[in-house]
Amino acid sequence: MGAIKIQDGIYSVGVLNPSLRVFDIVMESRYGTSYNAYLLTGEKNVLIETVHTDYFEEYLANIESVVKVSEIDYLVMNHTEPDHSGSVAKLLERNPQIQVICTMAAQKYLQAITNREFRCRNVKSGDRLDLGNKSLEFLVAPMLHWPDSMFTWDESTGTLFTCDFLGAHFCEPTMLDRNIHYPEQYREQLNYYFNCIFGPFKPYVLAGLDKIEKLPVTMACPSHGPCLVEHLQEAMTLYREWSTPVKKEKRLAAVLYASAYGCTAKLANAAADELRKDERLDVKLVDVVNTPLSESAALANEADILMIGSCTINRDAPKIIWDVLASVDALNTEGRLAGAFGSYGWSGEAIDMIRSRMEHLKFTFIGQGVKANFMPGCENFDKIREYARCLAFKMSSVK
Ligand code: FEO
Repeated sequence: MGAIKIQDGIYSVGVLNPSLRVFDIVMESRYGTSYNAYLLTGEKNVLIETVHTDYFEEYLANIESVVKVSEIDYLVMNHTEPDHSGSVAKLLERNPQIQVICTMAAQKYLQAITNREFRCRNVKSGDRLDLGNKSLEFLVAPMLHWPDSMFTWDESTGTLFTCDFLGAHFCEPTMLDRNIHYPEQYREQLNYYFNCIFGPFKPYVLAGLDKIEKLPVTMACPSHGPCLVEHLQEAMTLYREWSTPVKKEKRLAAVLYASAYGCTAKLANAAADELRKDERLDVKLVDVVNTPLSESAALANEADILMIGSCTINRDAPKIIWDVLASVDALNTEGRLAGAFGSYGWSGEAIDMIRSRMEHLKFTFIGQGVKANFMPGCENFDKIREYARCLAFKMSSVK
C-alpha cells in the first residue's frame, strides 16, 4: 500500500493483508487485516510498531520511501505480540542503534522474541520521550490485551497510538476511517475483534477508556484496521457499552449435558430441578447435542454455577462436551463453581476427565462429581440432588 501521510509528520508504514481469512490460527478475518505501523518524522525519527515478519520487506520499503532506516532513532513497541514485533529483529539488523521504547514486560518478551541484545528504555505511565520539536507521552495499559501493553500519546497532533485497542481486522487502503465504504461490515469487525481480544479483559478496558477520555484525542491509530477520527467517539462508546457489567437480579446456574440414551439427561433434570428450588438462581438446562454451540458456550461463560453432564463413550466424553469446554474463556473462571455428572456403561471416565479439565480452567470444582452406572436409581438421584444443593450452598461463600 506504500507509505501514507496521515498527519503532518506522521506516516502509516504498515501493510495490508486483504486475503487473510484466519488470523493467529483462532480468529476469522473475513475482510483480511492490516499490520499497522507508523513513522513519526522530525528532529528525531520514531517508528511505532513493526509488522508480521512475513511483511518486513514491504514495511522496510514503506519506511525508506520517507526516511532511510539508518535515520530511525527510536522504535516504540506498545505491545509485543509477533504480529507487531515479528520484524523487530530484522529492523535491528539494519540499524542496531535504534533505541526500543517499551514497558519492562515488553522488554522481557522482546528479548525472547528477537534473541539478541538491543538498546532499550523502559517507560511507565507519564514518562515522556523528547523528540526536540515535540515529545511523546506513554500511558501504561496493562492487560489491553497483554501485560506489556501501553498507549503512546502525541499531544502536538492529538494522536493516540493504541496498538490492538480500538482495532479491527479490516483493510482500508487509505488508512482513514472517513473512507470506509462498508461501515456496517467495519462495525461488525470492530465488535468481533473486541469480543475475541478484549472480551476477557473488560475491567481493564474500562480503565483504559478512563485514561484516554482525559486526553483531547482527535485521532486514534490502532495496529489493525483504519485510523479513527470520525468513528473514534462511537468506537469508544461501544467499547464502554460492551465492557460495562450487566446487572443481574439472579445468579445464573447452567446445567449443560450430552446424553446418549437419556440416562445422563435424567440426572441433568434432577440437578436442574434441585437448583430451581433456590430462588437466587436463574437455572438453564441445555441439551448441548441439540443446541447451537454458540448458545451453550455463552451459558458456559456466563454461568455462576456450571454443571456439565456427560455420558462416557469409548472411555471419553463426546466431542460436543469438549467443544463446549474449549469455548470457555479461561481468564474469567475464577470464583465460578463447577460440577460434573453422568451415566456410564463400562467405567465412566468422562466425569473424571471433565473434572480435570475444569480444574485446569481454574473453576472452583466441587467434590468429585456424580456417576451413575447405566440407568440412575434412587441412590443416584439422591446424590445428584445433594450435589446440586451443595453447589447452590457454596455459591453463598464466593464473590
Ligand atoms: Fe495485534 Fe495482540 O496483537
